Amino acid sequence: MKILITGSSEGIGLEVAKILANENKKITLVSRSKEKLEKARASLHGSGHQIIVADLSTTEDIEMLKEIIETNKYDVLINNAGVGMYGRFTDMLLPEQTKMMNLNINALTTLSYYYLRQAKSGDALVNISSMVGITGYPGASVYAGTKGYVTKLSESLWWENKNKGIYVLGFCPGATYTNFHDVAGTDKNSFSKSIMQTPEQVALELVNALKKRKKPIIVSGGTNRFLLFVLKMMSRKMVVNMMGKFGPLKGE
Ligand SMILES: NC(=O)c1ccc[n+]([C@@H]2O[C@H](COP(=O)([O-])OP(=O)(O)OC[C@H]3O[C@@H](n4cnc5c(N)ncnc54)[C@H](OP(=O)(O)O)[C@@H]3O)[C@@H](O)[C@H]2O)c1
Repeated sequence: MKILITGSSEGIGLEVAKILANENKKITLVSRSKEKLEKARASLHGSGHQIIVADLSTTEDIEMLKEIIETNKYDVLINNAGVGMYGRFTDMLLPEQTKMMNLNINALTTLSYYYLRQAKSGDALVNISSMVGITGYPGASVYAGTKGYVTKLSESLWWENKNKGIYVLGFCPGATYTNFHDVAGTDKNSFSKSIMQTPEQVALELVNALKKRKKPIIVSGGTNRFLLFVLKMMSRKMVVNMMGKFGPLKGE
């Protein structure tokens, strides 16, 4: 079985790759850094794993990977590459936020499109979203917006493909101990330890969901699922006020 995972040189993507490689799947790892990719490949069990160097915030590399997806038959595509940016919307540079939208939205949509056009019964597409795609997140407004898009796109694609035997999953981690937070401009230790998961825990939940092939949207972590259950009983105004108060802007 061949599986392509974007953003898999570290973090959640690499942990998913490790679990699947232990199950004798052949993994194709994709990210910008050749050095990190080679190190990541060396950490995988078994042989025959591929690496592709691509910056998926650029039109050229999205096009290049789209062609690889069209010509190689992958049984599973995991659109995991994504970045965040924390700060007030108008304080952050717009071109940087556009670059984030290119990666989190345009790359994911293009690769999903070309993958699903040729997918067969038994194949699966996983799009990594986020809890904040459900709650919204003042202080990371555009990031939350991109993940809201991923969540809604994925659940609709789940419905469009279920009768063809093709599984589409929108997978939503909560705060996870990875470099994501350093890149996004915040401190992972600023989150309450009670909600944090390790990338290994998140990856295991993702792989289990992929095996069950049941739900369109899955939120990672029991505490996160409980929090969302409680938030559903609150008005949207209360939710966004709460996320703003405890989010990166600390209620400013
Ligand atoms: N960590 C969290 O708290 C959290 C919570 C909810 C959702 N998520 C989502 O989970 C996914 C994985 O995040 P993570 O926490 O594992 O982050 P991470 O540890 O920072 O890993 C991100 C991966 O994406 C790659 N990447 C970044 N920009 C890229 C680009 N332009 N083109 C291609 N690859 C790129 C990175 O490799 P290179 O640097 O080599 O390119 C790396 O392999 C993301 O979609 C994120 O939004 C994370």
